[in-house]
Amino acid sequence: MQISPSILSADFADLRSELDAISNADWAHVDVMDNHFVPNLTLGLPVVEALLKVSPIPLDCHLMIEDPDRWAPAYAEAGAQSVTFHAEAARDPRTLARTLRAAGARAGLAIKPGTPWAPWAELLPELDMVLVMTVEPGFGGQSFMADQMPKVAEVRAAVDKHGGQVWIQVDGGVSASTIEQCAEAGADVFVAGSAVYGAESAAAAVDELRALATK
Ligand code: DX5
Ligand code: ZN
Repeated sequence: MQISPSILSADFADLRSELDAISNADWAHVDVMDNHFVPNLTLGLPVVEALLKVSPIPLDCHLMIEDPDRWAPAYAEAGAQSVTFHAEAARDPRTLARTLRAAGARAGLAIKPGTPWAPWAELLPELDMVLVMTVEPGFGGQSFMADQMPKVAEVRAAVDKHGGQVWIQVDGGVSASTIEQCAEAGADVFVAGSAVYGAESAAAAVDELRALATK
């Protein structure tokens, strides 16, 4: 069970300290938004390159961008340890996942709440992670969509059948009150933004979430 706090809810003027504050987490989740795939603009490759130099933990880059086939490989080449792109945006997800892996990154495929899992199941051998969104991508602090839990369970069944080491990540509205149902459905990597950075102690929130997920 791994915790990946989203720095979308961190203080963008002080990201180095905000990464240090979650050094007990497994990953730092970095939400890249291009104002086209989602109606919000965050940060891009130059900032990720800077964060890679100072982060005490590996970066889990979640690319909410159009044309990931063109833009995602650069994140892997820069040294991002995990790069997740959206199924809805990719033209050739199989080739893209292979390119990311060849560049040394873990390859992740993300699906939005309205996107079914079944059409993507055949990609499992190319993937290291499947991200099931539990909010519409674009903003932190939204309400958790419990209706995505059957999809998490469906991905879990496919991963177990495949027999691989593919991780299942949930992202959006994950908190102390929702993480247990995610774990029960089969998720094993948990993104939390507001629940971590909105807490008095981000590190304590990470520990609490991990304990609840492991229960
Ligand atoms: C939403 C992002 C999430 C977001 C989660 O598009 O992908 O990573 O930061 O924030 P919370 O945990 O506050 O829902
Ligand atoms: Zn995210």
